[in-house]
Amino acid sequence: MSAPNMDVLVSLAKRRGFIFQSSEIYGGTGSCWDYGPLGVELKQNIKRVWWRDFVQERPDMVGLDASILMHATVWKASGHVDNFTDPMVDCRECKRRFRADQLGDMPWLHFCPATKGNKFTIPAGEACGHCNARRTLCPDCGKGELTAPRQFNLMFKTFMGPVEEDAALTYLRPETAQGIFVNFDNVLQSMRKKLPFGIGQIGKSFRNEITPGNFIFRTREFEQMEIEYFVNPGDVVDGRPADEYWHERWIADCMDFFRRYGLQPENLRLREHEKDELAHYAKRTVDVDYRFPIGWSELMGIANRTDFDLRQHSKGSGKSLTYFDEEKKEHVVPYVIEPAAGVDRTVLAMLTEAYHVEDVRGEKRVVLRFHPEVAPVKIAVLPLLKKREEIVSRCWELRDRLAARGWVTVYDDTAAIGRLYRRQDEVGTPYCVTVDVQTVGDAEKGEAGDGRVTIRDRDSMGQIRVPIADLETAFADLLGGAAWAAVAARYPAQAGS
Ligand code: GAP
Repeated sequence: MSAPNMDVLVSLAKRRGFIFQSSEIYGGTGSCWDYGPLGVELKQNIKRVWWRDFVQERPDMVGLDASILMHATVWKASGHVDNFTDPMVDCRECKRRFRADQLGDMPWLHFCPATKGNKFTIPAGEACGHCNARRTLCPDCGKGELTAPRQFNLMFKTFMGPVEEDAALTYLRPETAQGIFVNFDNVLQSMRKKLPFGIGQIGKSFRNEITPGNFIFRTREFEQMEIEYFVNPGDVVDGRPADEYWHERWIADCMDFFRRYGLQPENLRLREHEKDELAHYAKRTVDVDYRFPIGWSELMGIANRTDFDLRQHSKGSGKSLTYFDEEKKEHVVPYVIEPAAGVDRTVLAMLTEAYHVEDVRGEKRVVLRFHPEVAPVKIAVLPLLKKREEIVSRCWELRDRLAARGWVTVYDDTAAIGRLYRRQDEVGTPYCVTVDVQTVGDAEKGEAGDGRVTIRDRDSMGQIRVPIADLETAFADLLGGAAWAAVAARYPAQAGS
């Protein structure tokens, strides 16, 4: 892979309509981002395959869409009011704020006394090569002392109802998980599920992060794809306690998911949380890390939350949140395995992985090699000559036909064909269809068209000549996972461009 740096991705994402800074015309917020026409397709495709693979196709899963605003007591019972904090320090000079636990991961500005106060930017965690000093002051201005750390709660406060008073105080949810826990009994009773079973949910979450940044990696508004998988901790599966067995299974299933949609094994790794790093509710947590442009960082977490949440909500609400085991004739509080992924981080990982720069006959080709299922546009229909009415009208007819099959299909005639191909490469469109003079013929010369169009493959740039009548079958195969070579073998090749 031609590993891109973050600036390259941010610039491509803006230029090609994937992701824009929120409220950009007012200077932007820096902590929220808007998904443009191609970004929203990419993001929806990621959510769709996740929902299909993890919720719809599994007999042990159901879905939920809980509200973002919840009863304030939910957040007291869950521990978020008291514990959902990060340690924060302020610079007394420039007033910038930092997470105390991330100071060691930042490069720092240093006015070096050994070189008459010359200014250096020193890499994270390193000492100055001239005076050997380590960072003690503000990493940003290099001058200010830092305050002692204070705990800062990350939840956004708001008021439910027309009166802004303490009684109406609630929070924007900082995770989708709690909406699942408080609906555990509703789902259990209405769906008559047996343990083990899980509830999946996709939705927005909000955290007032002290140091948002790195594009869509850490934002104050983001989306999560979360599963709470309930198991009977007294059960034994394959000789292991059921919660430990299912934890391993979910780790494997999540890794498979990311690999299935194009993330390369060498860019994925598992990271076990140290005991002192574990959240207060967790028996064990494993992160799936991805090699982002900022280095190895968390893409998702898979935690064993034990029975903490159900017990807390049972205590907080006074309602029993147990499961009755018919065989053992006993009530149990299930343990929970929680695979929790960020939608935006998955978008960023897929953009990073897809980005390639190649040299094609002395010219630079930028290509996003998205998996076809997540590619925002599946097919582009392009006219070889936009001045020929029959060619243009045939293109529109094909665009409409292919779009009606549910494949996002675009028409473009705003440049010469070579340029059009490169534009589609740069947004990751897996296939282009070109209509030319041969397709439609020339009525004035009495020449009939051959009724064939060219399909061009993004990755190999191979081209085949396919009868229009076969287009839907060919794309059903290609977009359904068939290899290009297998489909190409059925049709004559066309010289490439
Ligand atoms: N319910 C468990 C939970 O929320 P988490 O590790 O805090 O666990 C899960 O969040 C995932 O949500 C993370 O792995 C990450 O992908 C995503 N996420 C968390 N905070 C985020 C933020 N500020 N911006 C973007 N994504 C975030």
